[in-house]
Amino acid sequence: MSKPVKVALLGCGVVGSQVARLLQEQADDLAARVGAPLELAGVAVRKMSRKRDVELDPALLTTDAHALVTRPDVDVVVEVIGGIEPARGLILAAMAEGKSIVSANKALLAEDGATLHAANKADLYFEAAVAGAIPLIRPLRESLAGDRVHRVLGIVNGTTNYILDKMDSTGASFTDALEEAQSLGYAEADPTADIEGFDAAAKAAILAGIAFHSRVTAADVHREGITEVSASDVASAKAMGYVIKLLAICARSDDGRTIGVRVHPAMIPRTHPLAGVREAYNAVFVEAESAGRLMFYGAGAGGAPTASAVLGDIVAVARNRIAGTRGPSESVYASLSVHPMGETVTRYHVSLDVADKPGVLATVAEMFSRHDVSIQTVRQEGRGDDAQLVLVTHRASDAALSSTVEGLRELDIVRAVASVMRVEGDEAP
Ligand SMILES: NC(=O)c1ccc[n+]([C@@H]2O[C@H](COP(=O)([O-])OP(=O)(O)OC[C@H]3O[C@@H](n4cnc5c(N)ncnc54)[C@H](OP(=O)(O)O)[C@@H]3O)[C@@H](O)[C@H]2O)c1
Repeated sequence: MSKPVKVALLGCGVVGSQVARLLQEQADDLAARVGAPLELAGVAVRKMSRKRDVELDPALLTTDAHALVTRPDVDVVVEVIGGIEPARGLILAAMAEGKSIVSANKALLAEDGATLHAANKADLYFEAAVAGAIPLIRPLRESLAGDRVHRVLGIVNGTTNYILDKMDSTGASFTDALEEAQSLGYAEADPTADIEGFDAAAKAAILAGIAFHSRVTAADVHREGITEVSASDVASAKAMGYVIKLLAICARSDDGRTIGVRVHPAMIPRTHPLAGVREAYNAVFVEAESAGRLMFYGAGAGGAPTASAVLGDIVAVARNRIAGTRGPSESVYASLSVHPMGETVTRYHVSLDVADKPGVLATVAEMFSRHDVSIQTVRQEGRGDDAQLVLVTHRASDAALSSTVEGLRELDIVRAVASVMRVEGDEAP
């Protein structure tokens, strides 16, 4: 056995308390796996008096996080505070002292990963930052290091998946499904980060950067949340054999020169593997040149599941320290730029409220054709003087579709563009 590897824990909330519990409960197994005991050196919190979901020696607790991360005996700093500051300052201070870092902080990595990677002298591991317990960063960074990834398509936010799944299975409105998610603890009192897609966008930026060996930040991600998804969108999708999911999509352009990174609700065929991801589960579908299609599925959040990923990283960086080595560092050699959303090519589901009279379909079809958007299917339902036209297009650019929709809005016979939603997943329903 080597001498103990000392771990400083920053944060003891949902995730941190479970990391502290597992470090203590599984101490013998972890020591055997690492080749040295993992010793909790201290736990930094904001409020000493708060009740914790773990039994801790009170002497370990401190509110002076900076002093803890710069202590000479600390080897590994685990940051599970969240947010940008003080997390960034603390990580940088620890890096300056040569500590290995484990973080679950998607917001920080997506906003300013470059600064952290540049300052890093040892290891910076962050498996828990994307999709909680699901191994994803290491498979992309290491297992697929010899392959060429074409696309990463994922459900990376459990709250929105829970809400959309409820809307799909019960016909509930968005508001009712959100209220249920909040009452069950799947959504926070302020659900903005989840339902507006900020959380998924941060994860998409991290995944895209790793998958395509390029630097991608949250600001590069096109983001739309699920607040506009209506019960009638869900019903319409269902009638056509689709389900609506909030997807994070990172893909190479057709010519391979740029990448698209986006988060938005989309219809996927019920036959697609991601369609079966229910409740608050996460799943990520990776398409690589040689490996083909891979799917990673599991719990994307929660104290113990996320702590599992954090512990895996702690073991990895501790092993590296003992071996006098370090894991892979940031790989951004490809330097692919992120193209504007207008250049994204996909299919669309467009629902229109129109006047029910002869020639309407021809006028609508002409507007699509004027903008080079070709129609795959059309469904019409009469409702007295009004009718609903539901069109699904072939692949077209987002810019062409936007121009089409603008044109449709100006037509007298179109009473309203009821909804426009992208269609993903290549299997036709
Ligand atoms: N929760 C999940 O399921 C999940 C899943 C994946 C990733 N993550 C990520 O994990 C990180 C932590 O999330 P969480 O849910 O565990 O958050 P949390 O429950 O709010 O816990 C945050 C902890 O940080 C402490 N803290 C806050 N400001 C501090 C400061 N200035 N100095 C020292 N300690 C401070 C808090 O102390 P007090 O307890 O004294 O207030 C608390 O213990 C975030 O980056 C999050 O995105 C969470």
